[in-house]
Amino acid sequence: MKGPGKRIGRVFFNQQMAFNRDISVLFFKAACMDCRSAFDAMAATGARGVRIANESGAKAQFVMNDKDAEAVHFIEANIELNGLECASASQDDLRSHLAKHVYDYIDLDPFGTPAPFVQAVFQGCKRNAIVAITATDTAPLAGTHAKKCMRRYMAKPLRGVFGHEVGLRILIGYLAREAAQLDKGIEPLLSFYADHYFRIYLRLKENAAAAEHSLSHLGYLTFDRDTLVREVSDEFSPEAAGPLWIAPLTDKAILDRMTDVDPMQQPVRCSKYLNLWRNELDVPYFYESNELSSFLHISPPVLESLLDRIRTQGKASRTHFSPSGFKTDLSLKELLSLYPEVS
Ligand SMILES: C[S@@+](CC[C@H](N)C(=O)[O-])C[C@H]1O[C@@H](n2cnc3c(N)ncnc32)[C@H](O)[C@@H]1O
Repeated sequence: MKGPGKRIGRVFFNQQMAFNRDISVLFFKAACMDCRSAFDAMAATGARGVRIANESGAKAQFVMNDKDAEAVHFIEANIELNGLECASASQDDLRSHLAKHVYDYIDLDPFGTPAPFVQAVFQGCKRNAIVAITATDTAPLAGTHAKKCMRRYMAKPLRGVFGHEVGLRILIGYLAREAAQLDKGIEPLLSFYADHYFRIYLRLKENAAAAEHSLSHLGYLTFDRDTLVREVSDEFSPEAAGPLWIAPLTDKAILDRMTDVDPMQQPVRCSKYLNLWRNELDVPYFYESNELSSFLHISPPVLESLLDRIRTQGKASRTHFSPSGFKTDLSLKELLSLYPEVS
């Protein structure tokens, strides 16, 4: 099933998010086992928090919250059904709750944009807390509604072949700037795009030096549609997309610990994505094979043959953003000169 999910009565439940919840469980096991308190801020049925509490083996106390009374009935029933002594339900606006309580792990999973809740979430974090954030407003972030993106995230998106990567990086850049307002820095641990959403797991780091350090990872990206040249720059220019995050999207050491996929609901899909994330180069854009073949007026090569050929001169990887996309550290000029050999 594709799409934004369905409601049970007034309560939201999205079967398609099974993969997203699988990744939450794997991530929690790999990075949050020392967390003592966890807050599922927008829990709906409690499906995600219950799965993490049940399947991670964590010792944390979980609070599963929703502002909607009907949702909280589901949460309570799910906690009871699963016999979770480490979990409790709460009915509150997450912003007022987080003005009074702090946590080691907070999950923010809104309909649409997380922007109105980010400050509350960061203020509700204990030292070195981990924050997980979903955004389903992919259209503004990926450039379909550029003005909305600028209003919401104070950044210019890019409509085009790698627009979703730019969107994810704009969102991380926005989180870095929001954290910096509180003299905190961010360290992305796992950030990805799948189906209709972006998802970011980050560590919130204390102090102004950490804030400055994260801000130093913001930049701009230009894309020339006539030449296909992509360029990353520290400097603002009116035609550039950004500001956006130009540093790594994932912490490879955490990915290496996310191994126990067999008990997950979608083990094959989890393995596929974990493999892609582990191997994806830290380059802030990618190429589409079709893009290069149209540009050169030749037929596209088999992607693996192209990657093998690139690896004789430099680095190459697939990207999780697109099944026909790839990343490389070669210059476009080098890429275009070897491309016809394999097409
Ligand atoms: C997309 S659903 C969450 C889905 C859920 N995390 C899951 O994995 O199935 C968003 C939920 O946020 C709740 N919500 C919206 N605004 C809120 C707020 N300010 N405080 C707390 N909950 C809120 C809604 O009632 C809704 O149940």
